[in-house]
Amino acid sequence: MLDLILRDAVTADGARVDIACKDGRIAEIGPNVEGEAKQTIEAGGYLVTPPFIDSHFHMDATLSFGLPRVNESGTLLEGIALWGELKPQLTVEAIKERAHALCRWSIAKGTLAIRSHVDICDPRLLAVDALLEVREEIKPYIDLQLVAFPQDGYLRDLDAGEQLKRALDKGVDVVGGIPHFERTMEDGAKSVRALMAVAAERGLLVDMHCDETDDPTSRHIETLNAETLRHGMGGRVAGSHLTSMHSMDNYYVSKLLPLMAEAGVAAVSNPLINITIQGRHDTYPKRRGMTRIREMLAHGIPVALGHDCVMDPWYSLGSHDMLEVAHMAVHVGQMTGMDEMRAMFDAVTTEAAAILNLEDYGLAVGKQADFVVLQAHNPVEAIRLRPARLYVVRRGKVIAQTPPVASQLDLDGERHSVDFTRPA
Ligand code: FE2
Repeated sequence: MLDLILRDAVTADGARVDIACKDGRIAEIGPNVEGEAKQTIEAGGYLVTPPFIDSHFHMDATLSFGLPRVNESGTLLEGIALWGELKPQLTVEAIKERAHALCRWSIAKGTLAIRSHVDICDPRLLAVDALLEVREEIKPYIDLQLVAFPQDGYLRDLDAGEQLKRALDKGVDVVGGIPHFERTMEDGAKSVRALMAVAAERGLLVDMHCDETDDPTSRHIETLNAETLRHGMGGRVAGSHLTSMHSMDNYYVSKLLPLMAEAGVAAVSNPLINITIQGRHDTYPKRRGMTRIREMLAHGIPVALGHDCVMDPWYSLGSHDMLEVAHMAVHVGQMTGMDEMRAMFDAVTTEAAAILNLEDYGLAVGKQADFVVLQAHNPVEAIRLRPARLYVVRRGKVIAQTPPVASQLDLDGERHSVDFTRPA
């Protein structure tokens, strides 16, 4: 007896399928799967996708909006200063409570894998302890990957080196960094080399905040590429944000992107945050500040998207909906071609899984039975509508449901139901 059968769903590739689940895994996928199951879900021709993935998040700061005050300038630097004011007041309990509340939002939105940075520039490592506990507690529902993030600068904060190692010893998964926040360009490059050495020695993945600035001469991605090649770590390293690339000289970028492709370094862009934080020193014209996603895709560089923040010192909005992130990427990057929109859907699903090195992800026999049914017919419609997540399934069990959303119109005695979908 199967545990669950999803009937009459459409995959992102347009295939009409049933999906059978047993013992937490996908037992069969294809048209007209036979067999009895304890539970059957009718998808009614709607889209089924593997779960959404947030490749860049800050779970230690989430839902702290307004504590102890609001970021009035909206800049990255005021956000960092504000976080510094909040840090001494943090408790493990408060961080955990907010993180779990956020995770419930994530589950409702079908976001079942999250790479979260965790600030290690606190001698107590409170956030590390809190999020390590959350990682275990939420494991049945969400795959949470933690990145040791030296928020105050790996070299700028004299204790960061030792604290980063302690955090990794405690079980934090990935090595982070913030080279553009070091005191000098030279220190920035030095921090990248030192952090890559730590990751190489421990055999860990790397994801650095890299060049999150409008300064076109911020080129730490170059060092990250070179160090990735030197250590032979292609496929295991990501540069997050990369916003300086927006403002870089085009000739320099024509050399940089092939180097990034050669090194096997991935990019994680955070369009919601980049469009609000970058360009704050510009009058008009005002830069968008998002990295060059379209050009990176053309060079075969893997690109994923992150939400980065939900209601924290840097961003007061959000509900942890990765389709909102893809929607913003499409607009800011002017990626309105069909293949481009499809690529942005992949950037919050399959491409993200590859960059995070997630095993067992995807709609295939033997993979974990995790998927989401959306009230939309294809990925482009999903980005357009950011629709209801009708069913969120984890390990073959429905863990969240939302009824289909439709407005009932009464137009002079004539009734209409509007749900904004338009089957192809
Ligand atoms: Fe970030």
